[in-house]
Amino acid sequence: ADALRIGIAGLGTVGASLVRILTERRDSLATTCGRPIEVVAVTARDRAKDRGIALADDIWFADAGALAADAEMDVFVELMGGAGDPAYSAVKTALARGIHVVTANKALLASHGIELAGIAEKHGALLNYEAAVAGGIPVIKALRESMTGNTIARVYGIMNGTCNYILTKMEKEGLSFEACLKEAQRLGYAEADPAFDIEGNDTAHKLAILTSLAFGTAIAADDIYLEGITNISIEDIQAASDLGYRIKLLGVAQRTDSGGIEQRVHPTMVPFDSVIAQVDGVTNAVAIESDILGELLMVGPGAGGNATASAVLGDIADIAKSRPGAQHVPAFGRPVAALIPYTRAQIQ
Ligand code: NAP
Ligand code: HSE
Repeated sequence: ADALRIGIAGLGTVGASLVRILTERRDSLATTCGRPIEVVAVTARDRAKDRGIALADDIWFADAGALAADAEMDVFVELMGGAGDPAYSAVKTALARGIHVVTANKALLASHGIELAGIAEKHGALLNYEAAVAGGIPVIKALRESMTGNTIARVYGIMNGTCNYILTKMEKEGLSFEACLKEAQRLGYAEADPAFDIEGNDTAHKLAILTSLAFGTAIAADDIYLEGITNISIEDIQAASDLGYRIKLLGVAQRTDSGGIEQRVHPTMVPFDSVIAQVDGVTNAVAIESDILGELLMVGPGAGGNATASAVLGDIADIAKSRPGAQHVPAFGRPVAALIPYTRAQIQ
């Protein structure tokens, strides 16, 4: 069968892991997907950087815009990050060409997700983004596909590996906030600008995406109450512990009695004996409360090259396995025209 041709913009923590896995597992992936997956185009800022991966000279493009516009590919994989350009324009360009897009970029989706979903729909392209929320945990597929038909009351959890890593290390090893953050950066967990992690924005981006999927509403990232972990001290963690609690940065979205939706991100004291309190290090946990299924709790690696590349690879494999002309799963679970206007919770 014809190879699935992919172009990758961004060869950092996630992009380099993806290329390594695609190279090492080329044969087994070809068997699983029914066709080989071929990297036919790449770009990054610094072409001379040693990334520990072998890439032919002739597949390099000067920049993401050129790659999105000109590469002969079936899938554009955006792994650069950032809500603005070049990611935004490059994704739009690829979708407008009818090229499927796979991205891990939650900042981009929180700002422009519905617009991009509309372009994808118009041009018969898929917009897949499993890696954008909770790293390797398949929460997008759960909400978008597996739980179709459920009415969801609440979705909440630990959605930022860097923050959970910092809070865990501070509590269990008594290390300073700064030392823990440095280590999270070294391990490839943090955003290019780690302020997005520790100030809660990254959790908010992810929550905004989950809210849309859970409640069928347009994304409303600006309506999230936001508080990060920068003011949490070892003394706070110790005081919580003395009372039988751990401090976790949670994202919570729920329907309220007034018929609106409440979204918030803030450090939360959770009792020792709750499952969420036991989630340590870079691990994430997402709970979904629904009427047919009941409560689903998914726990797993929330950041890092391999965990994230695993989710990106799953999205690529879905496209490789899809039949030409098959009905596409809409990016946010329902066609853009069928999204419900977002109604914020009324403050009592
Ligand atoms: P990263 O290590 O900083 O890598 C970013 C890559 O994009 C680098 O290869 C960089 O090039 C390239 N790049 C940046 N700006 C560019 C530009 N203007 N033009 C062309 N290339 C550009 O980031 P990452 O951790 O892999 O994250 C990538 C995406 O995945 C982000 O959206 C992030 O939020 C998301 N994500 C990351 C994780 C994680 O655990 N790391 C988990 C889930 C989602 P150079 O290498 O030449 O500098
Ligand atoms: N910086 C993010 C985190 C990467 O620490 O969770 C995964 O989205």
